[in-house]
Amino acid sequence: MTSLKQSIRQIHPIIRLCLVFLSLSLISSCSSKAPEDVFTQKPLPYAENALEPVISAQTMALHYGKHHAAYVKKAAELLAQSGLDGDTPEEIIRMTAGKAKHQDLFNQAAQAWNHEFFWNCLKPQGGGTPGGELLKRIESSFGSFEAFKKEFSAKAAGVFGSGWVFLVQDGKKLSILTTSNADTALAHDLNPLFVLDVWEHAYYVDYQNKRGDFVNSVLNQLANWDFAASRLD
Ligand code: FE2
Repeated sequence: MTSLKQSIRQIHPIIRLCLVFLSLSLISSCSSKAPEDVFTQKPLPYAENALEPVISAQTMALHYGKHHAAYVKKAAELLAQSGLDGDTPEEIIRMTAGKAKHQDLFNQAAQAWNHEFFWNCLKPQGGGTPGGELLKRIESSFGSFEAFKKEFSAKAAGVFGSGWVFLVQDGKKLSILTTSNADTALAHDLNPLFVLDVWEHAYYVDYQNKRGDFVNSVLNQLANWDFAASRLD
């Protein structure tokens, strides 16, 4: 022990300082983030009124400002009580999927993630037809872009109650996955490219019971196909 102390004393003071800083940064990088840093609500990528007239500012104020905000806050609270460690919402979702003990945390975490993903799937003056590799994959998987939109709309109409409609990638193939309530493509080991929220809170203020009109309007006027293409593996 004495010789160890002597050896440490013999290290140049500047090198000793560097070693202390290195140790502290290693300790810091190994520790998990605080729950409120894992689940944070990022700003919308556009103004609340930027998606009008397809989605009103009133809907966005409620949807982003109340519903999404509440999912994020609750997810952080439940993560703090769970005893689980994770640095990202994706990690927490994968840890809790299918586990009855963590069902409440999964629901809030998945809703927090699904909504942030949904905002990124929209943009003002979106819609139209994707290009490049995404269009090629859609055509090889569905026959044509029109056939894809038809199938997406039909599946969106078929979601009973609340849920989500995802365009997902599974290897080379693309397909449409519908989920109920908070369930997310991440929990099914699929790569989500695009999603549409078909909970009533997403469209009832603007479209009342006409979910089909909401779905078609979003696909044709707001879909951010560049974002979807950027997620292709
Ligand atoms: Fe929603």
